[in-house]
Amino acid sequence: MKVDKIIFATGNAGKMKEIRMIIADLDVEVQSMKEADIQAEIVEDGETFEENARIKAQAIAQELKARGEQAVVLADDSGLEIDYLNKEPGVYSARYMGEDTSYTKKNASLIQRLEGVPDEERTARFVCVIAAVFPDGRMFETRAAIEGRIGYEEKGENGFGYDPIFYLPEYGMYSAELAPEEKNRISHRGKALEEMKKILLMEL
Ligand code: IMP
Repeated sequence: MKVDKIIFATGNAGKMKEIRMIIADLDVEVQSMKEADIQAEIVEDGETFEENARIKAQAIAQELKARGEQAVVLADDSGLEIDYLNKEPGVYSARYMGEDTSYTKKNASLIQRLEGVPDEERTARFVCVIAAVFPDGRMFETRAAIEGRIGYEEKGENGFGYDPIFYLPEYGMYSAELAPEEKNRISHRGKALEEMKKILLMEL
């Protein structure tokens, strides 16, 4: 089956840029939902990153099928797992303390909940799962993570979300202190996308 279009189920411009960079050498057109003119209200009510990524990709794939269009649909779901908090906020990372609450407040809350917790128990990771749905219904998934620790205060101006409290011991800096290209290279999302690229190379 020759598929020459990939639709990435996101409205996030940063994610689109990243996926375009990573799969630039595949002979396919990559479109955002907006470019593909898809407006879908998707309820992400899964309990795992896998479920949520699948829900998103399948919803868009169904919409395309109804229109008689052929494309591979990719969707991602990601979040922060803090071991000391039983892997919270996890799949609720975006919704933690409410979708509209600032990350300054969310980050301060997490630091406060770890008050008095020593370095070795502050372990955490960013996780990303990417799901792909092909026009013939086949599904593939990749998962990647980046390990770190929750710091004691916000540091760095780059990135977004929980990056300013996510310390990377291997790099001796916070995720928000990394240059964007460097973050893409080592991040959970970058690595899950690289894995998905390998699958696309074989299956497209
Ligand atoms: P989603 O995958 O776009 O639903 O994002 C989930 C949420 O996880 C984001 O809104 C952030 O709160 C958090 N998150 C995921 N990846 C990152 C990252 O690379 N840096 C900081 N926060 C992240």
